[in-house]
Amino acid sequence: GTVVLAYSGGLDTSCILVWLKEQGYDVIAYLANIGQDEDFEAAHKKAESLGAKKVFIEDLRAEFVEEFIWPSVQANAIYEDRYLLGTSVARPCIARRQVQIAQREGAQYVSHGATGKGNDQIRFELTCYALYPEVKIIAPWRIPEFYTRFKGRKDLMEYAQAHGIPVPVTPKAPWSMDANLMHISYESGILENPKSHAPADLYLMTKNPEDTPTSPDLIELEFKKGVPVKVSHLKDGKSKDTPLEIFSYVNEIGGKHGVGRIDIVENRFIGMKSRGIYETPGGTILYHAHLDIEAFTMDREVRRIKQGLGIRFSELLYNGFWYSPECEFVRHCIEKSQESVEGKVQLSVFKGHVYVLGRESPRSPLQRRAGQYGCTGGLRSLRCVWLH
Ligand code: ARG
Ligand code: SIN
Repeated sequence: GTVVLAYSGGLDTSCILVWLKEQGYDVIAYLANIGQDEDFEAAHKKAESLGAKKVFIEDLRAEFVEEFIWPSVQANAIYEDRYLLGTSVARPCIARRQVQIAQREGAQYVSHGATGKGNDQIRFELTCYALYPEVKIIAPWRIPEFYTRFKGRKDLMEYAQAHGIPVPVTPKAPWSMDANLMHISYESGILENPKSHAPADLYLMTKNPEDTPTSPDLIELEFKKGVPVKVSHLKDGKSKDTPLEIFSYVNEIGGKHGVGRIDIVENRFIGMKSRGIYETPGGTILYHAHLDIEAFTMDREVRRIKQGLGIRFSELLYNGFWYSPECEFVRHCIEKSQESVEGKVQLSVFKGHVYVLGRESPRSPLQRRAGQYGCTGGLRSLRCVWLH
């Protein structure tokens, strides 16, 4: 049969590619570009040289922002009060394209290199089953012949040497990383001990706040229906207005000022706790900006219900249920709640923090009756009508 392998270019999935071939499969290598720092050209050549029948390098950055990150911004999505879900939100996006390729190429199988203890296996597989119910999934890290043969990195290196797989020349960082446009996560290895502090040079997307500029950047974010439509710098006049450019720009500003670092212990879906370190510069800026414009423009009672839905959405997202009836329903309600979420928020980004300076909106009751104190509702403020 034919299998579409989610290939990263790294040691693990290179060994998996060759191992699948050894098991008699035709392998199609699929590598998603979701904004990680990667030499895609080199990965393409590498997969080909390892014997992949076809190689697909897919640029998913724009759809990742528009179809996955934006709904998460609308939801104020956050897991266990701290994690902005940068890995979780990428998984349905990556797996959706994998399944599309499998269907188009007539492949019955898909495969991935996620471990048997983590969340990622669940997210990949639930997405695949939801969108391609007949698909068969090969998860080597859950197959005894595979994981007993490859007990550690040493076994992978030896296998690579024996099979002409280029072995990494730079020593591997003593932790595992997952990088995309939205964030980088660091976990396992020496970070597994929750007490050990992260080394200062771990972070790749954000500057250490101790070394960031001594004056802030002032920016303005404009929202329509709860999603950013424009970002402008209030001093140099620069502005961006496509989703990918907006997101990249807030990443740049956030990274420059050391915004969005967290170090947490979280509950994985399968029941264990795990220590994770994350940096989400742009996502953190958007989180604060969206919370502000939402509170400013949204009906009080709608907001209370929507807040609960945002928590449900975050849990569904974390647990891999993006493509489920309940998550589709929740997303639909959240989107509906965003109709009035429109306006501009001015922010200062400085020393690891995001400060809201001001906001304006044509949709806020407060704005429509500027200068008037007390009851400031329009038609929707039934509570105010009753008070009078
Ligand atoms: N703990 C985070 C999550 O579950 C990050 C997972 C990182 N994944 C990885 N393959 N390194 O969303
Ligand atoms: C993995 O186990 O593949 C990474 C960690 C996770 O998915 O939670």
